[in-house]
Amino acid sequence: MSWEIKKHTKAKHKILKSYLGAWFPIMAFTNPKIVYIDGFAGPGRYLEGEDGSPIYALKIAKEIFEKHYLKLKDKQFVFFFIEANKESFESLKKEINNLKLPSNFTVTTINDEFRNVMVEIFDYLDKNNNKLAPTFAFIDPFGTKGVPFEIVKKIMSYKKCEVFFNHMYSGVMRSKHVSDHTELYGTDKWKEVVDDGPKLTELYANQLQSIASVRYTRSFNVRAKNNAHIFDLVYATNNLVGLKKMKEAMWKADPLGNYQFRDTTNPNQIVLFEEEPDLTPLKQILLEEFSGKAKEITEIDDFVATETPYLSGHIKQKTLQPMFKAKEISVIRPDGSKSGFKEGTIITFP
Ligand SMILES: C[S@@+](CC[C@H](N)C(=O)[O-])C[C@H]1O[C@@H](n2cnc3c(N)ncnc32)[C@H](O)[C@@H]1O
Repeated sequence: MSWEIKKHTKAKHKILKSYLGAWFPIMAFTNPKIVYIDGFAGPGRYLEGEDGSPIYALKIAKEIFEKHYLKLKDKQFVFFFIEANKESFESLKKEINNLKLPSNFTVTTINDEFRNVMVEIFDYLDKNNNKLAPTFAFIDPFGTKGVPFEIVKKIMSYKKCEVFFNHMYSGVMRSKHVSDHTELYGTDKWKEVVDDGPKLTELYANQLQSIASVRYTRSFNVRAKNNAHIFDLVYATNNLVGLKKMKEAMWKADPLGNYQFRDTTNPNQIVLFEEEPDLTPLKQILLEEFSGKAKEITEIDDFVATETPYLSGHIKQKTLQPMFKAKEISVIRPDGSKSGFKEGTIITFP
């Protein structure tokens, strides 16, 4: 296995790093103990020297812990790094040992398969009548094996737990005649859509929502050069703030808001201007959804987060303000303020 870092891997890391920068502080401020699981951890370092996912997760957590020491000094940060390959596991251990970590951090590295470790953790919790503490589980296999849907479902059955899964649907499509993927999807319906990659992800997200009772899912499509690897990063959460933060992280990796990364960019091409996302569809969505209604700004914000690809940052100044100026909506602000869209502001749509 070559551990060169590819552009599509960098896109994945960009999303995760950006999200963890929000997840660690938000969760640690509000819970006594948080858990970070990297189920397919890798060797901890790429050939070019870049940090692997376990290392940057630890560094981000450490930075946040030190920055907010007074608030976080009594909080527990628990990390599980699972890696099945012996050589990669040894390398990972060495990389982690090189870090100076706060004493509140408990780091466990395990040389075994993700599923075995998770079953052991669940058995332990069940026997002791305990629940999994608020957890973020990054599940990043090379291929299509080793991530039974039942395990993901069990993680999501605990309150405040989230999953970020690399769904390698191109691998599923390639191996459709030789492998049974029923365990991965928790249903054999994958056979009906196996020739259509996006539909496989849709099936996975549907399974999360209907069988695992997950409230929100979001995915981000990644294509490597020549379409050799095509995968969807699938995020699952029951928390609206989490969803908003993950969408922001995904927009950072694709500023046009298409939720995709294509490794086809010509490195010699000079970028002369930053392209801006087209927010016209957002205006249309709001006009249709709220036609003839008066809505409080927070309701609009939540609707945009859960039902559209757009972010909170696209709503007020970029969409509602121009609509207000053009007299397309009317705005009633609380306590007589003359501008802005703070909480309590009511917008009436035509
Ligand atoms: C895509 S790589 C992980 C890369 C890492 N997450 C990163 O971003 O730096 C997948 C890793 O999972 C390991 N692996 C393969 N099967 C596994 C299993 N069933 N359980 C745990 N690790 C496994 C491989 O040895 C490999 O190191």
